[in-house]
Parts: sequence; C-alpha cells; structure tokens
Amino acid sequence: MTAANNKVVATLLLAALLALHPATADWRTCDEGEFDVTGGDVEPYPVRAGEEVVFHVNVTSGAPITGGLLEVWVDYLGFHVYSSQGDLCEAVACPLAAGTHTLTFRQSLPKVAPPGPYLGVFQARNQGGILLFCIDINFRIAVWPA
Ligand SMILES: *[C@@H]1O[C@H](CO)[C@@H](O)[C@H](O)[C@H]1NC(C)=O
Repeated sequence: MTAANNKVVATLLLAALLALHPATADWRTCDEGEFDVTGGDVEPYPVRAGEEVVFHVNVTSGAPITGGLLEVWVDYLGFHVYSSQGDLCEAVACPLAAGTHTLTFRQSLPKVAPPGPYLGVFQARNQGGILLFCIDINFRIAVWPA
C-alpha cells in the first residue's frame, strides 16, 4: 500500500472514530450580516446517510425581507461535497417580517454519504446582494445504518 493510501485509510478511520462519539451539533456565524444569528442545530442527530436532514437557524431581523438568494454548501473533511443556490423565499416564507424567526432548511442526504464530520454552510443575501446571515453548522453522519 502506498503512503497516500495509508493516509486515506487513516483519515477514514479517524472519521469513523469521531462519528462514534455523538455530541450536539455546534454552530458559529461565518460572516457578519444584517441578521442576528442566535442559534443553529440539526435533526436528527447524529444524521444518517440516505435520510432527510432538517437544519434550524434562529435569526432576528431588523427589517422585513421580501426576497433574496440562499446558498448552501456542505464540506466533508475539507472537501466540498454539495452546493446549491436558490431563491431564499423557497426555503423561508416571504415576506419575512422583522423580528425573531426559526428558519428551517431541509436537505436529503445521499445513501452513500460516508460517516464522519460534516460542515453545512448557509448564507443568505437580500435582492440588493447585502449579506443577511452566514452560519456554519457542524454535524456528523452516523457510522451504522438505522
Ligand atoms: C431556536 O428558537 C426556538 C424557539 O425559541 C428554540 O426552541 C430553539 O431551541 C432554538 N434553537 C437554537 C439552536 O438556538
């Protein structure tokens, strides 16, 4: 086996070991936007490959939102494994009034998604291109199928 193969095997083993220790998802803002981000989580936890994942993002907005763009991407061990770009108002009910909201984003995972640590990034902009929020949510895909 080559050194590169060993590295891949070691990485997969590490990912599997980490996945054996479920904790709660953690989150952080990845950029300052117009919204105040106060929380983020994932259900179910840990996530299982082939199932739908539901992300919740708690935000407070100072002004109503009538439209915008939502970008989502998912990293696995530092690699982009998924990305999408779409109408913010397909993911949240618009107009979004000023105030505190729990935003819900649903994402189906492929059956072949390897277990281990993932990073989901959700970034929203209004029609003028102004950043509303950017949140990183760490989650894990369980080793064992349901
Ligand atoms: C988001 O807000 C809801 C309603 O206040 C609360 O029940 C939930 O725990 C919050 N989630 C996070 C991740 O902060």
